Amino acid sequence: MTNYSKYRGMMRKIADIQYASAVLNWDQETYMPPKGATFRAQQLSTLAGIGHELSTSKELGELLNTLSSDASLSEKEKRNIKQSLKNYNDNLKYTTEFVQELSKTISETFQAWQKAKEVNNFALYAPHLEKLVELKRQECKFLGTFAHPYDALLNQYEPGAKTADLETLFTDVRNQLVTFVKKIAAKPQNTDNFMFLQFDKTKQWELGLDLLKQMGYDFDAGRQDASSHPFTTNFSSEDVRVTTRINETDLNEMIWSCIHEGGHALYEQGLPSEEYGLPSGEYVSLGIHESQSRLWENNVGRSLAYWKGNFSKLQTAFPENLKSINFEDFYKAMNIVKPSLIRTSADELTYHFHVLIRFEIEKALIEGTIEVKDLPNYWNAKYKEYLGLDVPSDSKGVLQDIHWSHGSFGYFPTYSLGSFYAAQFFNQAKKEITDLEFEIEKGNSKPLLDWLRGNVHQYGKFYSAEELCIKITGEKLNFKYFMDYATKKYTQLYNL
Ligand code: CO
Repeated sequence: MTNYSKYRGMMRKIADIQYASAVLNWDQETYMPPKGATFRAQQLSTLAGIGHELSTSKELGELLNTLSSDASLSEKEKRNIKQSLKNYNDNLKYTTEFVQELSKTISETFQAWQKAKEVNNFALYAPHLEKLVELKRQECKFLGTFAHPYDALLNQYEPGAKTADLETLFTDVRNQLVTFVKKIAAKPQNTDNFMFLQFDKTKQWELGLDLLKQMGYDFDAGRQDASSHPFTTNFSSEDVRVTTRINETDLNEMIWSCIHEGGHALYEQGLPSEEYGLPSGEYVSLGIHESQSRLWENNVGRSLAYWKGNFSKLQTAFPENLKSINFEDFYKAMNIVKPSLIRTSADELTYHFHVLIRFEIEKALIEGTIEVKDLPNYWNAKYKEYLGLDVPSDSKGVLQDIHWSHGSFGYFPTYSLGSFYAAQFFNQAKKEITDLEFEIEKGNSKPLLDWLRGNVHQYGKFYSAEELCIKITGEKLNFKYFMDYATKKYTQLYNL
């Protein structure tokens, strides 16, 4: 057996453990009865322990070091070894005590957050979050030397991302997008009232499946279930599951969660299954993952062509609510821009103000220029500044997101990166695919899916996010593409 095939075997074993945990997690979110929780937590913790042991074993380290100087490997093999060695060395920086302390603090903080959000009392959460932020500051220190300490956390979700680049990007968001949204707000507003009538659950479910099928989601390599928060998970590229949430008095939830999660799922289904367990079989970064969901959700799903093709299906399913709505008004309703308090239900433009606020807060927290106790006031001031809104309660403000209670600092920026990459990729796809919009209108997703498979999915992690972006579009991530897309579309929608 060659060293490389030995390496591949070890990586696949680690993946087996991780994906087995993923099955248990998926079950926990969908079908597990309440009494299953205690032993489930134990089972997950046991598997996490085994996974950690395997991925930090001396044997793996020696093998990776030997392979890292093996000139006979192919370019793809070399890149896999480089990635795996980096992960291996990063894992070694964590002492067992730190990992245990972090995991314990996260459980406590998560429980405190749930309670605090429910009863709208930030003080219940604050002491736990303080401890967690302190651990995160320590983590930044032992992970190595970075230009900015926050880079260490960002890199866990978006390898190679730099705080300085994000500052430049979000300065553009602040300068250009804030001004643009103000122009929209000054115009007569469109309505989407008809989206909040009564919509039968079963019919919504059927429609969601139909939308997924149209995108090219492979039901022989996945399934859809219901959960309280929609998500996508995978156990290989041949078993990629999505969940959705149906609200009988808001048709938006089903539509956008199906298309969004469907976009994530198409990416996972498109990763090369022969590279299972290896970096070349994994997604590039969370920003690139989100680019796939946002491209389908926004660039496709909120487009004129998409609804030209699909509006009649909705009318047929819900004639009592939609028969009398004309197409123009429906298309406008799919693209309402309105500053709102909650990130997850924000429109595709003001969404980025929510992310900008979280980026500024996280950076300041990690730098130590603000402390946890300052968060509610700081948060509320930012919502006033960027969205013009008064935050009525911490539950609808600083307590709304789960991320910080999980210790996920550095995650939020990937949401905006995803939208911006999506706009840049879609702009290129339109140049390279003949009559793309007409194909979308006909309900034919194949040309676009093939393009994404060929340009993004098939490579796994072979390229970094930046390399991939340059390879596809000829340049690094450039906010201009998102702004051009937004300007063109909303100038028409709001007669600017
Ligand atoms: Co997503």
